[in-house]
Amino acid sequence: MLLVTAALLICPGLFSSEKARAYTLKNNKVTIYEGETFPMDSLVADADFINLRLITSDRSISTPTKDGALLGLGIGECVVTLSDKKGGRDEIEVKVVSKADVHMVALTLDDGPGSHAMELMDFFASRNVKATFFMIGTDVGNYPKSVQRMVDEGHEIGNHTMNHKQLTAVKKDRALKEIEEGAKAIEDVAGVPPTVFRPPYGDSTAEQRVAAGMLTVLWNIDTLDWKYKDASRVEKEIINGAANGNIILVHEIYKTTVEGVKAAVDKLIAKGVRFVTSTTLLTRYGTEVEDLIGKRCFSDKNIRD
Ligand code: NI
Repeated sequence: MLLVTAALLICPGLFSSEKARAYTLKNNKVTIYEGETFPMDSLVADADFINLRLITSDRSISTPTKDGALLGLGIGECVVTLSDKKGGRDEIEVKVVSKADVHMVALTLDDGPGSHAMELMDFFASRNVKATFFMIGTDVGNYPKSVQRMVDEGHEIGNHTMNHKQLTAVKKDRALKEIEEGAKAIEDVAGVPPTVFRPPYGDSTAEQRVAAGMLTVLWNIDTLDWKYKDASRVEKEIINGAANGNIILVHEIYKTTVEGVKAAVDKLIAKGVRFVTSTTLLTRYGTEVEDLIGKRCFSDKNIRD
């Protein structure tokens, strides 16, 4: 039974026809964005497109393109029938969604890792929340299990420099070393390099951002959690600041922040908000990370040189 289930998961079309076929289905449900195509070669292995026919049940929602991809024309769901000349036949459920309809927010947690990281991750795991942790190089070695778990559970890990110095207030060489050493310290513990950079206090030069070599993620919602240390205030700031595309700043090292985050996240999820990593948010409309290096990303709509 287990084997059959596994085979169905990998290859749901496997048992629908005994005949040989020109394709193999990997998944019979796909979601595409309105105006964008879903490449069929990521769904179909060993495809012989000359022999493959795609028919959609509703051409106003999704239609096949000449290149053998599915194009999202209008929001909704339809069924696409795949068939080949060898008698293979399958149906794929295609859902077309508008990107504007997905309300995404990036929750960013600075100055850790600290003693609350595990509690936060337990909470995030139970809510399918993905967050971004901007960590200080000198502190990662104190919480290696937390750092490893961030990576394993799909959170994004960020370089918040080695010693949390204001990079525009130290000598040029020292600033570059702060960035480099921070990235290395995080990689040594995490096993993978950080993918985003956040300069302490938000201050950096273009040269420093380019040297960091990754997305520089700032924020447009500052909860001031470090100043007030008040859970209900943190909760309110996050809820009020959670407009689509925003980047919210909190600090993971305060108990009051953890409490405020939990309360706010639950209320926002109930309203349909999705918490995603910084990179997911900033590349959601197809922008390449490489095109954003050196820039300051305050939100998905506010990106400046
Ligand atoms: Ni900081």
